[in-house]
Amino acid sequence: MARSDVSFTRPVTVVADGSELESEVRSYSRAWPTTFATAGGDRLRSADGKSYLDFFTGAGALNYGHDNPALREPLVEYLTGGGLVHSLDMMTEAKAAFLRVLRDIVLAPRGLDYRVQFTGPTGANSVEAALKLARKVTGRHTAVAFTRSFHGMSLGALAVTANSDKRAGAGVPLDHVLRLPYEGFGRHGVSGLDLLEDLLADPGSGVDMPAGVIVETVQGEGGVNTASAAWMRRLASLCARFEVVLIVDDIQAGCGRTGPFFSFEYAGITPDIVCLSKSLSGFGLPMAITLFRRELDVWSPGEHNGTFRGSNPAFVTATAALREYWSDERLRHSTEQKGAVVTDNLTTLCHRHVAAGAVHRGRGLFHGVEFAEPGLAANVCRAAFDRGLLVETSGPRDEVVKLLPSLLISQENLAEGLHILDAAVAAATAA
Ligand SMILES: Cc1ncc(COP(=O)(O)O)c(C=O)c1O
Repeated sequence: MARSDVSFTRPVTVVADGSELESEVRSYSRAWPTTFATAGGDRLRSADGKSYLDFFTGAGALNYGHDNPALREPLVEYLTGGGLVHSLDMMTEAKAAFLRVLRDIVLAPRGLDYRVQFTGPTGANSVEAALKLARKVTGRHTAVAFTRSFHGMSLGALAVTANSDKRAGAGVPLDHVLRLPYEGFGRHGVSGLDLLEDLLADPGSGVDMPAGVIVETVQGEGGVNTASAAWMRRLASLCARFEVVLIVDDIQAGCGRTGPFFSFEYAGITPDIVCLSKSLSGFGLPMAITLFRRELDVWSPGEHNGTFRGSNPAFVTATAALREYWSDERLRHSTEQKGAVVTDNLTTLCHRHVAAGAVHRGRGLFHGVEFAEPGLAANVCRAAFDRGLLVETSGPRDEVVKLLPSLLISQENLAEGLHILDAAVAAATAA
């Protein structure tokens, strides 16, 4: 559109909720056309009094449910006690408590000698820091990224993201990335790791040695594609052999979503860099960190910064969440048990809907059902919404229904949500 085509005087219809003001870029408010008013535990309630069971959990930002009292109470106490809210990267009591708990509950028991970088509060901020650090440490440019990956919308993170619609929004070339097939990608079974090994081992391959490889153990936005432990181990050993930095983007799969705190624990690997955000604060407050091996800490003071690196309310709820849920193995075990229930249900559902090409994938409480027929997954999500269940699609063609219930969901609510999903699939396939 030429600038002269943009009308500043076009009449607009004013609507009660003010949504005529909001950009066309909005998405969830279109998929779920209601105004939400309150939320607690596994449910949201709309202003018109309807209850919705949540199998979406803020795209993975609410692993411990909505308005969790174990996190809200220390937060309210902190705020009413006059605690700092904003502090850039000054040291505060809230930040010190978070660092101690992260060290004692998460890092030390796993033998992880990581430094912690507080980045801006979104996942993309953590990814940008990770990529920049890998490039600075190695002095190289290229990042290896995989098909169907999603790492965020800022330019560096978008360059390693695969989805063509999202990439098209960049408006500039997204360079310095070598794209390889993720495990199981494509119809011809080309192995991304065989390719990676050959390209890096052969000085005649024409591929410059990359700075780093960025990978998700479960690709959430890309359609809930899971990498096996063997595949992750081979990737880690290739990175070690060629001295390429291994970055695990654990923004959606981390914080217990797949069972263990870090999603890569199932493979027994130690990434060089780990990106965490989403459920790190536990309460839905924005927060992100980038963890990296101590030797990689080549930053000079202030070289990478951001105004909102020090959100103390998020430190308070993150500290409470780690103490409450990660001091022992109970949450991990219950996630694995609930995950087995989901797997059983979805396996049965897929058998019933073979004709629709239904296929289940997932790990822990991170699941997806792919449908071959275009548009069917979106229709399932719409039918689920009509029946009081929030689930969203993922995958490059929105062909997958993605399930992310709270890790603390009750057995009853889990069964109810799976039952609604069943009814939604039946309705959508019958239509
Ligand atoms: C794996 C992964 N990385 C990065 C991001 C980007 O996070 P944010 O939207 O907070 O920037 C997301 C968001 O969905 C994600 O799933």
